[in-house]
Amino acid sequence: MSPRSLALALLLCLLPAFAAHPVRARRAMVVAQEPHATDAGVAVLKAGGNAVDAAVAVGFALAVTHPTAGNLGGGGFLLLRKASGETTFLDFRERAPANATRDMYLDSSGKLTRDSLEGWRAAGVPGTVHGLALAHRKYGSKPWAELIAPAIRLARGFPVTYSVAQSLKNTKLLAKFPESRRIFQRDGKFFEPDELLVQPELGNTLDRIARFGPREFYEGEVAKKFAAAMAANGGLISLDDLKNYRTVERKPLTGAYRGYDIVTAPPPSSGGLGILQMMGMLESSNYAAHGHAAAAAIHFVAEAMRRYYADRSEYLADPDFFKVPVTGLLDKAYISSRRATIDPSRASTSDSIRQGTPPASESAETTHFSIVDAQGNAVALTYTLNGSYGNGVTVPGLGFLLNNEMDDFAAKPGEPNMFGLVQGEANAIQPGKRPLSSMTPTILLKDGKLFMVVGAPGGSRIITGVMQVILNVVDFGMNAQDAIDAPRFHHQWQPDKLSLEKGFSPDTVALLKSRGHTVDSISTVANVEAIVVQKDGWLAGGSDRRSHGKAAGY
Ligand code: DON
Repeated sequence: MSPRSLALALLLCLLPAFAAHPVRARRAMVVAQEPHATDAGVAVLKAGGNAVDAAVAVGFALAVTHPTAGNLGGGGFLLLRKASGETTFLDFRERAPANATRDMYLDSSGKLTRDSLEGWRAAGVPGTVHGLALAHRKYGSKPWAELIAPAIRLARGFPVTYSVAQSLKNTKLLAKFPESRRIFQRDGKFFEPDELLVQPELGNTLDRIARFGPREFYEGEVAKKFAAAMAANGGLISLDDLKNYRTVERKPLTGAYRGYDIVTAPPPSSGGLGILQMMGMLESSNYAAHGHAAAAAIHFVAEAMRRYYADRSEYLADPDFFKVPVTGLLDKAYISSRRATIDPSRASTSDSIRQGTPPASESAETTHFSIVDAQGNAVALTYTLNGSYGNGVTVPGLGFLLNNEMDDFAAKPGEPNMFGLVQGEANAIQPGKRPLSSMTPTILLKDGKLFMVVGAPGGSRIITGVMQVILNVVDFGMNAQDAIDAPRFHHQWQPDKLSLEKGFSPDTVALLKSRGHTVDSISTVANVEAIVVQKDGWLAGGSDRRSHGKAAGY
């Protein structure tokens, strides 16, 4: 053997040591952020249910087993691609109650209060039950009650994992609200790992939704109790708000990147547009030639991020209330003009980067799961209470936590929200409006065939997290697990800093600083759950080890 081929052979032997194995399945797969929920979904798939059936089962199961984000009292987005090629997007995002006002979170001196974050007034009208029900009615195949049954069973008691036990113990928010403190913290006698978390009130609410259908949540006994509790505690959501809630079915955004078609979330998500615009800036650059995680590559991607987030702050909002210039923001010439302002060797300052002028055109907790069924239907679903455990309130007698999604609005335009996002007038509070979201459920196709299903929680970092995992697969040839494991970075224009997860080399950090970046370190850039269809047709699932999820299939 020549020294050269010996070196190559050695290298090839070494390579697998660096590659984490994704979970592989021949037919169907679920990747979710909590193992009991994954198992509930796989059981539905094995029983012949389709991806939407499994999504309904996983969505309800997470509401029981992943209380930090799984929910009945929140909202989200479901992206579906049917094996036939048909795609759709269900927007069951929360809405501002009819009595919401622009300045409802400002005190008499015009300062922001904490009311958009904690307590009854922080909640938007929940959409989850409505959205899952519409998905089921239009695209599901199994009986509704059968899909809620696993969640009802889990509400009778499931052993909490180490990380759920830690999370419940450490939250100060839940301790502020007696019903939450009683159920989730046993009034201070905290759950140990493997102890059973029993939720009879939630089980009963689920049972009523299973028996009487989704109307129970929006018009029935559950709705009446919910609205009465709101009124008694100074909250805004009325029975009319619940009755008037509607899921909106929208056309997904589509784009292309280096031979892959991308199907993704339209407004009121800012995420789909974000990945398409940023990847548009990357596509004709040679950023990837520098190599994965090279300072020059990180620099270029971070500059694309900075520019997109400046646009986000100005132009993105609920399209039913604000004319989002989608076509202009994705216009090729516009994107090239934005890319042309990137200096490959020097960081811009965010103060010098403003939103661009696109051509006029016609117009901290979340969770994500990805599912592919045996027919090749795919669902990417992200839903949320916003912050960890939402606004902290468990509705007495009903057992479910409420969201604090109102904080995703610009409660005071120009001032940062929970995620440090500085947002403008377009996203100001208006009755009935949906707050701008970063949730980015996304599906990739190669040669017209399903290639990848991906999404994540992580607030404003969802968009950059999802994009980096896609880039790791498409540009750097990583498998689903490696693509997720690799350290990630984030820039959101304001504040002007490049945030790095642990795992980048000190040399790289020094090079980034020498280019002019203000670098800081953060714990995580999103928690990504992805499925990739391998060349041989097998499914490869990656579940983010930053969290405690599970990929499984058959
Ligand atoms: O819709 C949004 O953008 C936020 N409510 C998402 C919140 C989130 O991901 C928190 N999770 N870590």
